[in-house]
Amino acid sequence: MQRHRIGVIDSGMGGLTVVRSLCLAGVPLDIVYVGDNANVPYGNRPLTEIVALTERMLDVLDRRGVEAVAIACNTISATVDMLESRSKIPLVDIIRPAARAMAGLSELHVGLFATEFTVQSGLHAKLVRELNPSVEVHGVASARLAALIDSVPWDEAAIREEIASMIAKMRRVGPVRTVLLGCTHYPIVQNVFEELAPDMRFIDPAGLQANEVLRAVGVATAPAKSPQLASEESAISLEVITSGDPAAYRQMLDKLGIPPAQRFTQL
Ligand code: DGL
Repeated sequence: MQRHRIGVIDSGMGGLTVVRSLCLAGVPLDIVYVGDNANVPYGNRPLTEIVALTERMLDVLDRRGVEAVAIACNTISATVDMLESRSKIPLVDIIRPAARAMAGLSELHVGLFATEFTVQSGLHAKLVRELNPSVEVHGVASARLAALIDSVPWDEAAIREEIASMIAKMRRVGPVRTVLLGCTHYPIVQNVFEELAPDMRFIDPAGLQANEVLRAVGVATAPAKSPQLASEESAISLEVITSGDPAAYRQMLDKLGIPPAQRFTQL
């Protein structure tokens, strides 16, 4: 099977949830991951800064010769219109596939947990409205959770406290049963969301974006059994380019069941 070289970008380690889904596809891939951990969270920054920081990551991926880039960050994806007009590489954002999934639910009220920037952009709500005007999107933002998940050492108590507060806010908003995890960091702690709100259903859109980026390079996919097994069978290679700490990545790759990176490079 032909190998493909795919770039994945995020402000930090959240985009590894999309790498995990790419590994599950059982396709030979050279994945180049760029995480700008020194500047996480992007979601509390102004638009001009987010775009400038992202262009730096896209330049690096352009030099690596990737065929397409998964923008595995909702905050950055909310600026995709500006980025697309400047990028030489095809970009696949995470908001459009997620919005299609939200619009297809047979529920009139759907929740969104995301960063301040993503919720304020209103892009999920706009796209869902275009596809299905009867669905209302209720956004609850966190200014803290993405950075907490990206932090070493891991502060489980602070993470749980922040998630409990987000869930309490969502309950006050309205009759929401299904919530999109609209920040790629959040599925890393999906078990905590599920534990604290067993009556709610949480959607991780990583698999939808992974399929979309694979389609962009001409691959049709069927999901395999586990990231480890699938990537062994398909010989996935992973390079991590980061402004953060490679040791934190090693831990997170292990936590997510993704095979170790072959190479770490400084961003
Ligand atoms: N993983 C990013 C997202 O999906 C985190 C955001 C941030 O850095 O603010 O939005």
